Amino acid sequence: MNLKMLFSFVSVFSLLLVLASSDVRAAESEAAVSTTPAKQAGQPGDLDYILKKYVDSEFFSYKELKANKKDHARFERFMEWQADADVKSMSREDQVAFYINAYNSCSTKAILDHYPVHTPLDVDGFFDKLKFKVGGEMLKLGGSDGDSMEYDRLIANYGDMRAHFAVVCAPPEVARLYDQAVESQWDANRDIAWDQLPEHHPDLERALDQVFTFLAENELSALYVPSRFVARIHPAYAEVAMFLSTQMADEARHIDVFLKRARAGGGGLGVSSATTSQSLLTLLELTDFTEAAFLLSVLGEGTFLDLLRFIEDHAPDDVTADIVQRARNDETRHVHFGLVHVRHALAHDKGLYQRLENAVRRRAATMAGAGGVPDALQDGLTILAAGSTSPKAVSQGHDAFRGLLDEMHHNRIKRLEHAGFTSDQAQTLSELHTPNFM
Ligand SMILES: [Fe+2]
Ligand SMILES: [Fe+2]
Repeated sequence: MNLKMLFSFVSVFSLLLVLASSDVRAAESEAAVSTTPAKQAGQPGDLDYILKKYVDSEFFSYKELKANKKDHARFERFMEWQADADVKSMSREDQVAFYINAYNSCSTKAILDHYPVHTPLDVDGFFDKLKFKVGGEMLKLGGSDGDSMEYDRLIANYGDMRAHFAVVCAPPEVARLYDQAVESQWDANRDIAWDQLPEHHPDLERALDQVFTFLAENELSALYVPSRFVARIHPAYAEVAMFLSTQMADEARHIDVFLKRARAGGGGLGVSSATTSQSLLTLLELTDFTEAAFLLSVLGEGTFLDLLRFIEDHAPDDVTADIVQRARNDETRHVHFGLVHVRHALAHDKGLYQRLENAVRRRAATMAGAGGVPDALQDGLTILAAGSTSPKAVSQGHDAFRGLLDEMHHNRIKRLEHAGFTSDQAQTLSELHTPNFM
């Protein structure tokens, strides 16, 4: 997380401060009555004052605050108030706001204490070692050892994923990805030259029916998974909700175009497999957004990029190639979003590596009873690559299919390393990835 990001979060907590303003005002008036003038006591309004003065839409002026001794002292007084604040006496909403403010103000304090720094990661243990007194207890920013503001107070106690979005998500690339998605929309009826689709040998057409049925089936879960999270995104991170909406529109279009292609030869749809159903169910059951983005977008859709490229390379006609090429362009954006989100979250929380690895292992354990790549799909891809069912061609098609599996593994490792995993971790996680690819 860079400093720019850190302080786009600050604007969220100023927003939440406004939401919790009635109690804040009560606390202010109490403070005014009950404190002695010997040492001025801190109060919630001090932080509000600092934010209004030092936050300029995206940036926080650490340098200026550090240079202004009077204001710096006022910030420290807020930290003193926060250290011993009676959280239990607050309403539930105010408790959530309190911990979001605590997260952000403690981040600010850590930067000020170590200033100048380029990024929080320049400070050893910024998220998982530094401790701050908050609401009467010593807490860290991140991690999940039972004493982190983010996971152990905000998310564990309030079960409110909006809190996660308030302190972790929405890197600035998301807004650009949204713009790109809007510009890249296409239409499965108007933009595909369906009238130029040639007739193929029935064996090849059956293989295509099967492959496109499989694609459509997987696209359904790519549509459902983001839909589970959209309504839980904090309004301050509207770009994330907007991007996920474009992703859902993309997936609806992919389902449409893949089903049309599967049916175009007149043979109807192919079959579904227990492996695929089971694999997709494990995605639908996820409740953590970062785990879902990782499993669906980085691993699943990432692997799908290689699959779509393979189908495009072996497509027996230009119309079929055009369909998968268009879908692949959209999927590249979805994978990019997943990578951006996961990298951003990993940079911020070292404990996340382990949680993501655990999520992959849990999914692999659930899938342990399933076989490898579903037979019907393997046959479909082999015949597609072969171009016919002659023994010699099928043998070559089989080699091409084995090559695809190697390519998928190789590229998954690259994506995992890009997301921040070590080579060894990437190797292990890639091998555990589900045999239905998604
Ligand atoms: Fe898709
Ligand atoms: Fe997708």
